[in-house]
Formats: sequence, structure tokens, C-alpha cells
Amino acid sequence: MIWEMKKIYYRGYQRVLNTALNLMTYPIPELLTGAGSVIKLPSEIKKRNCNNILIVTDKILYDLGLLNSLTDELKKQNIEFSIFNGVNPNPTIQNVEDALKLYKKDNCSCVIGFGGGSSMDCAKVVAARVTNNKTVSQMRGNFKLKKKTAPLYLVPTTAGTGSETTVAAVIVDPTIHEKFAICDFKVVPKVAVIDANLMLGLPKHITSTTGMDALTHAVEAYIGKSRTKKTDENAEKCVKIVFDSLEKVYEDGSNIKLREEMGMAAFYGGVAFTRAFVGYVHAIAHTLGGLYGIPHGLANAIILPYMLEYFGSSIYDRLAKLAVITDIGSENESNEELSKKFINKIWEMNRNMNIPDGFKEIKEEDVILIAKTAIKEGNPGYPVPKIMTLDECITIVRKLMR
Ligand SMILES: [Fe+2]
Repeated sequence: MIWEMKKIYYRGYQRVLNTALNLMTYPIPELLTGAGSVIKLPSEIKKRNCNNILIVTDKILYDLGLLNSLTDELKKQNIEFSIFNGVNPNPTIQNVEDALKLYKKDNCSCVIGFGGGSSMDCAKVVAARVTNNKTVSQMRGNFKLKKKTAPLYLVPTTAGTGSETTVAAVIVDPTIHEKFAICDFKVVPKVAVIDANLMLGLPKHITSTTGMDALTHAVEAYIGKSRTKKTDENAEKCVKIVFDSLEKVYEDGSNIKLREEMGMAAFYGGVAFTRAFVGYVHAIAHTLGGLYGIPHGLANAIILPYMLEYFGSSIYDRLAKLAVITDIGSENESNEELSKKFINKIWEMNRNMNIPDGFKEIKEEDVILIAKTAIKEGNPGYPVPKIMTLDECITIVRKLMR
């Protein structure tokens, strides 16, 4: 009985939030696209009167020289810049504070986040810290930012997170081993650059797992209860591209056309989930990331098919539609059959891209903690198709153990 009451409360909460979100306009960044488009960014920034930029990135990209085309163009246009290259694979509060210190020391007036989701999320929060008199922890949750962030520009170098268009930034608090999200319209950048040239050198395992992250965004948005016509359209575009192109680009990373397609797939997935939310796949993935440092895309890729199987008949119609759109089934098959085909396609993609089907890291003594943390993130915030109990989540976490 208590559980039934809780479920009613969760659904009520989600409906109220959804009604409120329907009244709001989601900002979408201006896009610069095409191979080599990053060199157009400096003039865009100059136009907006910023002449001293903080670039937030990670050490690997910095050492690879991936920033060179951007920094050469900045020099050419006499725009000053400083580089913070200390973002961790899971960005921490300390990363934000260190970058902010450099921003202030060098009198910067805008921020470029350059890299994967980690660098972009770190940059979002740095830009928010510049103007908002709150600690990173105080920004945790929805709509906690009072003031506009410092002008923000994002350049993804992976095709997955969609962070270049989302209202969210995920940060780790290592003192409590937790990942948490800061969600606010204000962290959507002014301009995002989707430049496939920057993605050509991505190693295979990053190509596959970030691509599966994009797929997870689209699928969780598509099966959730806060979906809209627009989020459905974007999710469908994303799923179609990922099914068509991800395995190919995994095999042929130098194919610029496929890289471009995947860059756009990630963007479409981002547009879908920033309004329609993610779900329990992300809740468990964030928990595993916070606890063991498991990369986000890898965690999602592994968890996604298990969670879709758990949702069962509650999402047959949704997955069936995706199966038809992606040509892995036809309309004369039953929804159940099509849904199974869709899930099988994900298992198959994971196998073909050498993604395992479970996690060696999960320890028996952590199972309940993982389930509790994931449930806390998921309920009531995520408008999932079926609300999961703690016991059901424990069963799924056990299935994920290797
Ligand atoms: Fe994600």
C-alpha cells in the first residue's frame, strides 16, 4: 500500500514538472558544423566582445595537439586565451575550482569547453561559478542558478554526451563518491561546434562507448513519459544514425562522413533527453561512475539492454516503432517481436564492438548501496515507463555483476 502511494506521488510529481516544462522554451545553441568548423569559432566569440578566453580541456587532448587549429586561429585574430587542461575523466568539484582560479587570475571573460562530456560539463559549471555566488554543491539539482553564466562556447570532440546542447552538467564529489547533476537552461552554450575533424583520432573503445551513450539518451527519452513530438523526432533521428553508422565508424574511424553523422546523432540525442529526461540506465551508470570510476558511455552501453528487458511490455510499442524506423523489422510483426529485435540489435552491437555484458568492478557488499543510490537518482525525477522498486533494482544490479 505504501509503495502504491509512493508511485502515485512520483507520477504526480512528474506530471506537474512536465506541465511546467511545457510552458518553457528550451534554448538550443547556434551550431557551427562541418569538418574544420572550429576555426570559425574565434570570430563568433569576437563578435560577442570577448577578448580573453579560458579554454577548459583535458591533458590527453592538450598533449595530442587537438586544440592547435583553434588556438592558431585565436592567435591570428589577436584574442587572448588561457588553457586549463586538468579536467579528470569524471570532472570533480576541485577541477571546477582550479579552472575558476585560472579564469580569475588571467582576467578571462568567457569560457570554451573543449573535449568530451567531462570538459564540457566542467566548463559549464566554471561559467556558472563565475557569476553565481554559490558553491558547486549548492548548484546541485534543478534551476539553482540565479544569474546568467559567463558566455559559454562548447566544442565536443566525442560523439556521445550531447552536452553541447543539454541543460545538464554532471560533476563528481569524491568526498562522498557521488556524481550529481546541475540542471539549468543557463548552462546551454551560445554556440556549439560540431567538427568531425576533431573526432577522427578517437580510439575505437571511445568511439563505441560514446556512441552508445548517444543511443541511450535517445532511447531513454523516447520511452519516457515526458516525451514530446519534438523529442521523439530528435530521438528517432539519433537512433537511426547510430544503428546505421556506429559500427561502421568503429571499424573505420577515419571516415569523415560517418564521424559527421555521429556528431549530429549525439546532438539530436542531447536535444531529445534535455527535455524528455534520461532514466534508470543513467541512474545506475552515474552510480557506477561515482563509485568505481567506470566510464559513463561504457556503463550505459552495458546497462541499456538489461533495463529495456526489465521494462518489458510497458515499452513494446515504443521499441517497435524504433525497430520499424530503423528497418530492423516491419510493421506486420507484433510489437513484442519488434521490441525483442530492437533489444537484440543492441546486444549485437555491443558484442561487435567488444563491449562486455557486465561489470567485474561490482562487489557484492556494494549491491544494495548501488541500488539505493540509483533509485534515489531515478525516483521521482526520471519519468520512466515503469517505476522500479529497490528489490527490482537489486536484481538488475546482480545481473550486471561478473
Ligand atoms: Fe549520458
